Amino acid sequence: MKILIINGPNLNLLGTRESEVYGTKTLDDINESLKRLAAELGVEIDIRQSNHEGGIVDLIQKAEGYAALVINPAAYTHTSIAIRDAIAAVDIPAVEIHLSNIYKREEFRHKSLISPVACGQISGFGPESYILGLRAAVSIANAKKGTS
Ligand code: DQA
Repeated sequence: MKILIINGPNLNLLGTRESEVYGTKTLDDINESLKRLAAELGVEIDIRQSNHEGGIVDLIQKAEGYAALVINPAAYTHTSIAIRDAIAAVDIPAVEIHLSNIYKREEFRHKSLISPVACGQISGFGPESYILGLRAAVSIANAKKGTS
């Protein structure tokens, strides 16, 4: 089973970016813990990051063969109809994740255009959101496999 993990804009700056909001772990630190969990769960993961909306759309369109997606669309969560439509277009379950609790923050972050096309959303657990997201994705993919 292969899971694709997609990170949106500015997440490459984790560690130094607004550490009071996002913590001090870097994206590499998070990726290492995801790789350890993937090995434990016996699944393969590919991890990507893009600062570009179209780049993220391309990744989703090319995700054939992946059993599920874990996506932190970052700021595009709140603006991107294109990413939402790409998720809706492919028959791959998606788990939306956020490091911060977007509902506790500025009002413009309270709306996610992605949630209506995601299986569910995990928000507010810091780097642990990625771990919970991967666990959720594997469980959803297994359930889907069982019904097909
Ligand atoms: C974020 C929340 C978004 O509102 C913000 O634009 C981000 C990161 C998070 O992981 O908490 O870049 O997706």
